[in-house]
Amino acid sequence: MRVGVLTGGGDCPGLNAVIRAIVRKAETVHGDEVIGFLDAWDGVRDRRTMQLDVHAMRGSLPRGGTILGTRRGSPYDWEEGPQHAKEILEDFGIEGLVVIGGNGSLTVAGKLHQQCGLPIVGVPKTIDNDIEGTDVTFGFHTAVQIATDAIDRLHTTAESHDRVILVEVMGRHAGWIATYAGLAGGAAAILIPERPFDLDAVCNLIQARHERGRYASIIVVAEGAEPLAGTEERASKELDRFGHVKFSGIAQRIAPEVEAKTGFETRVVQIGHVQRGGTPTAYDRVLATRFGIAAIDAVHDGAFGDMVVLRGTEIRRAPLTVAGSRTRTVDPALFDDVASVFFG
Ligand code: F6P
Repeated sequence: MRVGVLTGGGDCPGLNAVIRAIVRKAETVHGDEVIGFLDAWDGVRDRRTMQLDVHAMRGSLPRGGTILGTRRGSPYDWEEGPQHAKEILEDFGIEGLVVIGGNGSLTVAGKLHQQCGLPIVGVPKTIDNDIEGTDVTFGFHTAVQIATDAIDRLHTTAESHDRVILVEVMGRHAGWIATYAGLAGGAAAILIPERPFDLDAVCNLIQARHERGRYASIIVVAEGAEPLAGTEERASKELDRFGHVKFSGIAQRIAPEVEAKTGFETRVVQIGHVQRGGTPTAYDRVLATRFGIAAIDAVHDGAFGDMVVLRGTEIRRAPLTVAGSRTRTVDPALFDDVASVFFG
């Protein structure tokens, strides 16, 4: 079989581990030829490809990023795009295409399969861990570890100066990274998109903590966290050219108020793309490898229109349409019954 692979959306630690696993099983077990399309759908449109074989994948397992390159955008942005993409893939003799992507890429993949019959299998990826249908996405554990390491370091400097430090992490619609890193790093408060915050209540919590003799506080803030309606001015919702909200830095915005209300010097650390860069953790390498193996098997089973997912400890399949059906938000039991017990 001739199989295509592309990576779409933002990059994520573990992408190369997925590609490596696809190539390994495709070549050595199924006897396939694997072609990588460069820079996501742009590489399909412009016919830019890379031959993928076991030799080409050497050394890729611990490498962050994606050797194929990635972009936002899809055939739906081009004139007659879906039909054009279909014809190009047919020209290349592609019998199955593995799309490794986040919510946006998987939704597009589902549409291309449903509307044009493209033989696509999906692999969910995002550090945000917010894709419906899978219990975990690879890249998430790496991001959490990076954020936790940063919080550990920030504790000692915050304590030395008796400061409040607001640590902003990624998570546009769901606060998974904030919740996990905040829990693991012993945060005094965690602000997530799922729970609009009341800044007065947060500041009261910090003051009460200090009155109990504790000093220095780390507050973990997800980039998509928002104040409760009516309590603060909400950030304006400027969009980028793909329709994604451009965040203006919620931690930076609320820091002066935290300082004024608590009376403690306040600093902001935005971890940003450090969370997405570099080598994946062992957990993410293993999950990514399992997804890659399952994806090439799904191609051989003709399970087009499906993505591979993790349910509990097992790899299963779910329709691609599930990915875009809703955002998988933080489990209330984890946030309300576990994480919040440690606030203050
Ligand atoms: O989807 C993952 C994510 O890391 C978000 O949490 C973040 O807002 C976004 O990507 C930023 O991506 P970029 O800077 O590449 O547009």
